[in-house]
Amino acid sequence: MRARIASEGPLRFADFMAMALYDPDLGYYARGTRQVGGAGDFFTSVSVGPLFGKLLAQRFLAYWRGAGMPPRWRIIECGAHDGSLAADVLGELRERDAAAFGALEYVIAEPLPVLRGDQSEKLREFAGQSRILPELATLAGDLLPGIAFGNEVLDALPCHLLVRRGGRWLERAVGWGHGGLQWLEMEITDPALASAAVGLGEGFADGYRTEIRTRYSDFLMPLSHALRGGLMLWVDYGFERAEYYHPARGEGTLRTFSHHRAGDDPLEDPGGRDITAHVDFTAVVEAARTLGWQAKPLRSQGVWLTELARDWLLAMEGRPQPALLRQFQTLTHPAQLGARFQILELMRQEA
Ligand SMILES: C[S@@+](CC[C@H](N)C(=O)[O-])C[C@H]1O[C@@H](n2cnc3c(N)ncnc32)[C@H](O)[C@@H]1O
Repeated sequence: MRARIASEGPLRFADFMAMALYDPDLGYYARGTRQVGGAGDFFTSVSVGPLFGKLLAQRFLAYWRGAGMPPRWRIIECGAHDGSLAADVLGELRERDAAAFGALEYVIAEPLPVLRGDQSEKLREFAGQSRILPELATLAGDLLPGIAFGNEVLDALPCHLLVRRGGRWLERAVGWGHGGLQWLEMEITDPALASAAVGLGEGFADGYRTEIRTRYSDFLMPLSHALRGGLMLWVDYGFERAEYYHPARGEGTLRTFSHHRAGDDPLEDPGGRDITAHVDFTAVVEAARTLGWQAKPLRSQGVWLTELARDWLLAMEGRPQPALLRQFQTLTHPAQLGARFQILELMRQEA
């Protein structure tokens, strides 16, 4: 980073975050799969146990049946980490519906080489049903209906940082000085960022800090182009725009995570800790709409999973499965993960 700053000048925060998280040698996510779970830096719904994948599989199955049981369909997962969620989903589909399972191709989109090895190891028993691809362009010649989804991926996409000064926005950047990385504030020169910042409106106090992503469509486009139509499903923490950019949210949502402790200084130990910011779901919906996808209203994970789990809960009456019920409670209770995460479903008719 120091060398790059010396040759190119200060790094815009989004470039800093991309390097800190995804540099192929030293990036936080390029360092294997120790980040998620009790011994790592944070828990996710996947690390709670297999129930999350089992319930997602029911939603995917409902999609397949509703689409007229196409003879071939595809699920594309982003941010698949060590492949646990993929294995949970595939295992459940195999158990519930042999026809749907036989018709399925499960694709993991994984840019980081080090993770592809772990994922193929985890999915060895599903080798006939799954592929792990560094990028999705290879699917363009064989479009299928299906699903693109990810758990806690959008919050890990690099974001820009803004600060309000004298009634206008400046962009926060990272320079080098006094022997270390340091914060800088610069004029906004990127037209996309300038217009997105104007779109946030007025009424922000001096010193108000926030984050913004201007490139959700760059992330969604290859996924959209790899499907003939179907469902996109994003699970993450975040808000709709008016709530996100509320004048009272003066410090933004940027956080770091290390050993289950949240921090607020991403310049500390870059590559050694997670960096994340909430998702502006309105921006995701707008980006998806330009690609032909229509959004359903945002739902909390608790409500969404409880609806999906109805039949499973009824079938369990009289013969409870305590371990799965504990997972269900963690995933759905508002004081645990139920209100923390939102589900965005986007639909596109088959072309
Ligand atoms: C917070 S982790 C979530 C891991 C896993 N989905 C879970 O819920 O346990 C975020 C993951 O998103 C991945 N990621 C970020 N940008 C991505 C992209 N453009 N394509 C695919 N994966 C990406 C990161 O490498 C990381 O594995």
